[in-house]
Amino acid sequence: MSLKLRMFQSGKIGKLTIKNRFVRSATYEGLAKEPNGEVTDKLLKLYQKLAEGEIGLITTGFSFVQENGKAFYNQIGIHKDELLPGLRKLVKVVKDRSDSRIFIQIAHAGRQVFPDFAKSRDIVAPSSLTDKLTNITPREMTRDDITTCIRNFIAAGRRAYEAEFDGVQLHLAHGYLLSEFISPHYNQRTDEYGGSIENRFRIIQEIIRGIYDETDKQFPVTVKLNAADFVKDEPQLTITDSKIIARMLIKEGIAAIEVSGGTYESTLLGNYTPSRTKIKSKENEAYFLPEAKVIKREVKNLPIILVGGIRSKAVAEEVLEFVDFVALSRPFIQEPDLVKKWQQSISTRAECISCNRCLFEQGGKGLRCIYMEKIQKRKKRKQQINAK
Ligand SMILES: Cc1cc2nc3c(=O)[nH]c(=O)nc-3n(C[C@H](O)[C@H](O)[C@H](O)COP(=O)(O)O)c2cc1C
Repeated sequence: MSLKLRMFQSGKIGKLTIKNRFVRSATYEGLAKEPNGEVTDKLLKLYQKLAEGEIGLITTGFSFVQENGKAFYNQIGIHKDELLPGLRKLVKVVKDRSDSRIFIQIAHAGRQVFPDFAKSRDIVAPSSLTDKLTNITPREMTRDDITTCIRNFIAAGRRAYEAEFDGVQLHLAHGYLLSEFISPHYNQRTDEYGGSIENRFRIIQEIIRGIYDETDKQFPVTVKLNAADFVKDEPQLTITDSKIIARMLIKEGIAAIEVSGGTYESTLLGNYTPSRTKIKSKENEAYFLPEAKVIKREVKNLPIILVGGIRSKAVAEEVLEFVDFVALSRPFIQEPDLVKKWQQSISTRAECISCNRCLFEQGGKGLRCIYMEKIQKRKKRKQQINAK
């Protein structure tokens, strides 16, 4: 009898069965239509390929819940009911081709808006503190801003449900708004949305409760959580805080936690960003495993998804001893069929070299592996020269 590897065994998130332990971590696609973020044919094509790739759970790139929560051009929008037909198409393209599950990530950018894009926009954050990477100083959110933002997150959750996504993921990571609220580095408010950890968590608590009220308790609400900020200056979010937050999330009935870390400002500390580079050996892979283990110990039966630098089949299988799912982002850009390849033993390591050109050099043309694109262009040029 051959034993099935853990990675190919089904798992559960809430009541939902996921056919294997692979998650496509949320990845901004840069392919939605401006200015509202409607789903386009290019987006449908991308999700069709991911669905055909046998990934158990696909998470969309972050979608914006309100106009001033948009981070970049061509980001998916979920801030208006008019967007529902397009979002339904996105779900359908996955369901028609596979039994993969699809969640949508919902987000507000907070102060982390791409500088060029930020010009003449109303940039808000929990506190008016200058971002040391972008030099952007946001406006401190008023109580009315917070109330509106909570309402918009809840409406986005309701739209995710109505569009028939299998679940919704709240973006509590990487220094975007909800991640800013839980972090003392970004949140220095003195009202009930700042100060103690309970206060810093309040906005999230109100959003989760609101989404469950508007949908139903069976609809999985998950989070991508920063385990730590990894920034230069104190105060900052540490694993001591995120452990407590994980327990608070359980109380709110969350269905899973994806463990990540780092913010824009982590760049100033070196290679501590959410998408680390130079993943050349097994030792560099799964770089948030220490934090994920701590959180898993805290939450026991709650599914934990580990993201960050997983590149080899061997490491994916090894870490599944400690966590419930493995999430990958950059590898699926060049190889949306990576899970299939590993299943059929066609390969044992992703081709991704973690250069981050996909993150910084999209140039308005959407998500693609720019490293491979350059290699192919060079090859073609050589062939043309040889043919002359
Ligand atoms: C091009 C690109 C876009 C990303 N977009 C998002 C996003 O929309 N939401 C999110 O939570 N993380 C986003 N990330 C971070 C990834 O989901 C992931 O956490 C990180 O890249 C580490 O995983 P990896 O080593 O498998 O790429 C993005 C990363 C890249 C490279």
